[in-house]
Amino acid sequence: MSSASTSTPGVRQENFRFRCIACGDLTDAASQDFRCGQCGDLLEITYPTWKESKPDAAELKTAWQKRRLSSSPVDLSGVWRYRDVLPALNDEQQVITLREGNTPLYELLRCARITGVPRLFAKHQGMNPTGSFKDAGMTVAATFARRAGFRWVACASTGNTSASMAAYAARGGMRGLVLVPEGKISWSKLSQALDYGAVTCQLRTDFDGCLKLLQELVRKAPVYQLNSINPFRLEGQKTLAIELLEQLDWQVPDHIIVPGGNLGNSSAIGKALLEMRELELISRLPKLSVIQAEGANALVRTLREAGGKRLISVPPETRATAIRIGNPASWKKAAHVLEATGGACEQVTELEIAQAKAEIGAEGIGCEPASAVTLAGLKKLVKQRFVKTDETVVLVLTGNLLKDPDFTIDFHRGEMFSGGPESGALDSLRHPPIVLDASLDAVMRTLERFN
Ligand code: F0G
Repeated sequence: MSSASTSTPGVRQENFRFRCIACGDLTDAASQDFRCGQCGDLLEITYPTWKESKPDAAELKTAWQKRRLSSSPVDLSGVWRYRDVLPALNDEQQVITLREGNTPLYELLRCARITGVPRLFAKHQGMNPTGSFKDAGMTVAATFARRAGFRWVACASTGNTSASMAAYAARGGMRGLVLVPEGKISWSKLSQALDYGAVTCQLRTDFDGCLKLLQELVRKAPVYQLNSINPFRLEGQKTLAIELLEQLDWQVPDHIIVPGGNLGNSSAIGKALLEMRELELISRLPKLSVIQAEGANALVRTLREAGGKRLISVPPETRATAIRIGNPASWKKAAHVLEATGGACEQVTELEIAQAKAEIGAEGIGCEPASAVTLAGLKKLVKQRFVKTDETVVLVLTGNLLKDPDFTIDFHRGEMFSGGPESGALDSLRHPPIVLDASLDAVMRTLERFN
């Protein structure tokens, strides 16, 4: 089978081009593996028209505000509302949307006390339609997949991408192929892909093995790849940062902290920050920091041991299965935005993740384990005085609490980190279910016990 182009050859896109992040080569069309035809590195989307006629910042802010009052599908989407800074569509009817974005920004009052940082917020991307930040990218990339005429879309995933892709494929009338590692992903995420009708393959390998195979597949078959190597995904995920700034009334926070797995999301947020500064929507940059699990710390090691010059892969192991990735595809993009914004890169232990997750849960918000690395990382960055206690900090919570119920239940029932030397710090956070006789007396005595 010949490999189809993701856009019509020879036809100039309206407002964007693909640029190689390594050699800078510019093209109007990308091949199906989204790799540079010259040097093989990753592509990003650029907007050359901004050079000649930069969109006016005040006009953009007014337009985005106004669209909140509209009931058209593109305006109701918290991604397409910002379409002025996204790849242009000829026809807005083409959009595949589930009303993604529009996610809440919560103040974290209890976690503020724990960390000693009073101005602490969570941007909860777990409140997206399929329960993770992936939806913001998927609406854009799935829309362009269908526009390019693909019948099949595919992804490798630790769970959330597959849930999101399966949903958008179904909504867009396309078939979805999911490649996930067998075991070590949450059944809750897998159940979504099954219900949305994707062809779901559990491969006897890890995420990195699934992604490698997918890259080979898209070179051989007319299948559109929807991993975050696909730069349309990152354009959609960019809007998280724009919506955040809008929610903060364009007051720039000092720090944004995000989990790092395959490193697409941190790259997207960083790109948004740099573009917002270029467009004068903001006048200074927040520091963007990435936190990884200690057992899947490829970026931490790449920056510390190789000065960000070459990737140090690791055999990944963590119960935060969403970020159980050892060979992150977008490491160069992430290293670039960390440097450009002056952010840090840290790692946290399994116990620190479990504790932080329970603390976010006790706040009445909750998140999945991978998201909790942000709070655990913040504690470290405060200790190191990288984050000052009078600064404003935003944690990006990437996935919903319900994405990984096994982790939560194991934690509260004491099946995780119990009896160990450090378990004391966790015990006050555990709220196991209590089995009682169905008597008023038993319930009353329990009430008194906790009074
Ligand atoms: N948090 C959650 C909940 C995730 O699902 C992921 C990645 C990340 C953080 C890391 O984001 O890869 O952009 O650095 N999940 C992917 C997936 C890999 O297949 O669902 P990243």
